[in-house]
This record gives sequence, C-alpha cells and structure tokens, in this order.
Amino acid sequence: MVRAYAPGKAILFGEHAVVYGHPAVAVAISRGVEVYISESKSWTVENRPLCPNRHPHLNWLVKRNQLTDRPMSIKISSELFPAAGQGSSAALSVAAQLALAESMGLSTNPVDAAITAHQAEAHAQLGRASPTDTATSSLGGCVVVSKNLSGTADPIFQATLDTPEGVMDWDVGAVDLTFDDMPHIVLGHSGDPSQTAKMVSMVAELISENQEKKKDLDSIGELTLMGLVALRSGAWEAVGMTMDVCHEKLRSLGLSTPMLETLIEAVRPHSLGAKITGSGGGGCMMALTYNPERVAQMIEMSGGRAIITPMYCDGARILSS
Ligand code: PMV
Repeated sequence: MVRAYAPGKAILFGEHAVVYGHPAVAVAISRGVEVYISESKSWTVENRPLCPNRHPHLNWLVKRNQLTDRPMSIKISSELFPAAGQGSSAALSVAAQLALAESMGLSTNPVDAAITAHQAEAHAQLGRASPTDTATSSLGGCVVVSKNLSGTADPIFQATLDTPEGVMDWDVGAVDLTFDDMPHIVLGHSGDPSQTAKMVSMVAELISENQEKKKDLDSIGELTLMGLVALRSGAWEAVGMTMDVCHEKLRSLGLSTPMLETLIEAVRPHSLGAKITGSGGGGCMMALTYNPERVAQMIEMSGGRAIITPMYCDGARILSS
C-alpha cells in the first residue's frame, strides 16, 4: 500500500485574475488530503467503482499514467472542506499522482506531480485552471504563479495549458517567508459550496459582455504585485490592507455572498486584512491576524466554521510505501 499526503492552500492574492495570466500568490495550509492506494481486482474509490463523473481528476490520472489495466483501490481521507476554496481537488490530484507514481516506481518529484495534477484539474474545470492550487499543494510554502515572474519570486518551473481562450503559459516560483513575527491565517467556511468551474465560467462570461469588469481583473493583478512586495519584506499591515482592497475587486466581480460578507465584517476589527479566498460564490473567506483564536471565535459565532493555520507549511509527500 502507498500513502501520500498533499496540503490544501489559501490564495492570498490573485484568484480569478491568474486564469488570465495575472500573478497570484498562495500558501500551503496545515490541513490536507491523504490518499491510500493498494492493488485490487478493479478500479475503485472508497470501495465503489471509479466513476469519471464523480472523480474526473482521478479518472484522468489513471488514464494519464496508463494504469487502466493495473486496477487499484483508492481511499481518501480529507481534512479539508470540499468545494470551499481550500484546494481540496488540487490536493487530491497531487496526493493521488504521488501515490500512483510511487506505486509504479516513477518520479515523485514535486514539480512533476504539480505539472500532472494541473492538467488533471484543468480537465475537471472545463479546460480553465491556473497551476496555483496544484503547485502550492505540491511544493508547499509560498508560491507565486504569473505569466512572467520578472524577479518577483525564485523560478521553479513553467506550466502550459490549452484553454478555450488559447494556449496559456505560467511561470511558477517560490518565495521564502522566514520572519519571526509571522501572523496566522484563519479560514472561515461560509457553509455554502463554491463551484470553481462555474465561477470561472461566470467571470469569463462577465468580462466578455462587459469590458469594464476586465479592469477589476487588471486591478487584482496590480494589487497582487503590491501585496507580493509587502509579503517579501514582512510588511504585514500592508499585506492585510492589500487583501482588503483585493476583496473589494472580487466583490465587484460578483464573487462574494451575504454570508461571506458577514464573516469578513465580523473579523475585520481583529485582523490585518480579510478577503474571499478561492473561487468565491460560497466557500471560504480568510483573515490575516495576530489574534487567530479571537478571529476563529468571531467566525464560529457568525455561523461559519474556522480553521487556524500558520502561514508557512510543508508541501506534498509520500507518507509510507
Ligand atoms: O478552486 P478554488 O476555489 O480554490 O479557486 C481556484 C482559484 C481560481 O483562480 C478561481 C481558479 C484557478 O484555476 O486559478
């Protein structure tokens, strides 16, 4: 049996805009997904036949690794809320790819896993997916994804994808965040699902009908660069302020909900900054704070579910084989 783990992620800046080549910054969180695989008579997931509709990522990975004729049983244990902007499908894809590769004696290099898992995500998201979630889950730490890193992060690899809008290329880089006074992140789940493919398609439709809305994506791109400068110098107040402004742009794109607004308003007095994280329309908000217990309490008292995580967590790994 092979057991692999991959963490979820929180996007600090740049969700949605990154699909169009703008930069995004994400960090791995302290919760994730474990995948266990073992030989079996047929392909199963949680003892049920592998169904392409229910598990498009896993089905794609099995085919991609040419394993159709080598059936295995897949079991999944997740600490992440599904469909909540915590990158659960990316973590599942990365952990599954690592486990499948390990079982075949192939490369379990995090970069290879990130590249393959990104293609699996794109397949499941109707062809549109940035490498943000999969790269952050695989590499861990703080990851920057951009059309052109231009010195904003240490380059790690390049990702390419054939999307409905044409071929997209991204640089993926890492930022070392080693400061003594790092604030915590608190994620607040609104309780409503967030459907990435649907929200990405909604934004695509919105900007094709209304060029003004495209400016919100461009502004998110600029804010992300400002946020990255603040992040790299450990200017946490500036990081928080940039998060707040990013949230206004995401809200203007119709990605917030009344419940997300309630949670964000509740945590603002105790936070450096707060915003939606991930695709929105439900799912999670995040706060950057030196008072994580208080922020978590405010989220829970407002009807959400809170997760406290340090800002800098390790990436995916094989746990046993
Ligand atoms: O799937 P989520 O909710 O973690 O969001 C991913 C971030 C998006 O920018 C909305 C989509 C993408 O592929 O980058």
